[in-house]
Amino acid sequence: METYTIAVLAGDGIGPEVTTEAARVLEAAVKQAGRTVALREALVGQAAIEREGAAISEETMALCQRSDAVLFGAVGGAGVGNPNSKQQPEQALFRLRKDLELFANLRPVRPYPALVGASTLKRSVLSGVDLVVVRELTGGLYYGKPSEIRDGVDGKGASAVDTMAYTEEEIERIVRYAYTLAQGRRKRLTSVDKANVLSCSRLWRRVVDRVSADYPDVETRHLLVDSCAMALIRSPRDFDVIVTENMFGDILTDEASMLTGSMGMLPSASLGLRKTAHGHQFGLYEPIHGTAPDITGQGKANPLAAILSAALLLRYSLGLQRAAGAVERAVRQVIAQGYRTPDIARPGEQVVSTREMGAAVLGALTASKKE
Ligand code: IPM
Ligand code: MG
Repeated sequence: METYTIAVLAGDGIGPEVTTEAARVLEAAVKQAGRTVALREALVGQAAIEREGAAISEETMALCQRSDAVLFGAVGGAGVGNPNSKQQPEQALFRLRKDLELFANLRPVRPYPALVGASTLKRSVLSGVDLVVVRELTGGLYYGKPSEIRDGVDGKGASAVDTMAYTEEEIERIVRYAYTLAQGRRKRLTSVDKANVLSCSRLWRRVVDRVSADYPDVETRHLLVDSCAMALIRSPRDFDVIVTENMFGDILTDEASMLTGSMGMLPSASLGLRKTAHGHQFGLYEPIHGTAPDITGQGKANPLAAILSAALLLRYSLGLQRAAGAVERAVRQVIAQGYRTPDIARPGEQVVSTREMGAAVLGALTASKKE
């Protein structure tokens, strides 16, 4: 029997609460598919800084390297750690993304009809929305050097610098990834940049124009990031695949999450070219939401983004398409049945806890037909 190894890095804040539910669902889905999975837990983020002296230890990096996939919760967040320390919890995520070459971050956005009322946007704007943001994840402002705060000299105040840098190769590989994805979807690619201001964006646009010739079946359009931010809530149906650099992708996906009603609904998959020991795509899977310190430990967190991330893990890194579909159907079912965590509940609706929501999905999954 095939056995998979998954590194489970729950992290800080609500990370452990939502990851526990996702791990349960993942385990059950793999079992239903007639396979076995070994879940290996390790510390990451602030918890790892306090107990192991680094946001992610060498042992944990090695564990991730030899696993089929990483199931990740959340790290950092206001109120944890020391803001002036050299050790920041987010570094764990940056190192994982960089060292594991997870340059393509897929963030699918498809509102559930039953949740349309949870969004701040009108029903007419949301119907039929089905888009995916392909965010470049290992370049740009997140990694460029220099990046520092400099003390002022000669009576002047301090200054700070960050560096946005991209190579043609980095742009080309993410753009090709997005085109290939678009070919399997509605064949419309929107490349988002700020070419009227940034050199990185002008290079980005040049690469997209060159590469587009290899994908004549895909319709390409360029959009400036500010205009995209507007179009995303004016006419989100117009989008199929959006490809963009690291920070623009970060910002636009928080915005796009509101199309689904809540940040607590949006999963993500970070992928590269690496293959697993079983011949599938290695990846890291995490909800796009953060640590949410304001609700940590209260059972209020929505575990669905984490559970849907586990579904993506099943699909891409374990090659268990049907198991992935079964988890997604289970989520759709519990939503249709009216299960709501506070973030997706409308006034007067009854709310369930993180644990109850996880248990409901697990119940729907195990009640569904065996594969
Ligand atoms: C995300 C998060 C991270 C990011 C934070 C936690 C550093 O916002 O994955 O979207 O900016 O990449
Ligand atoms: Mg973000």
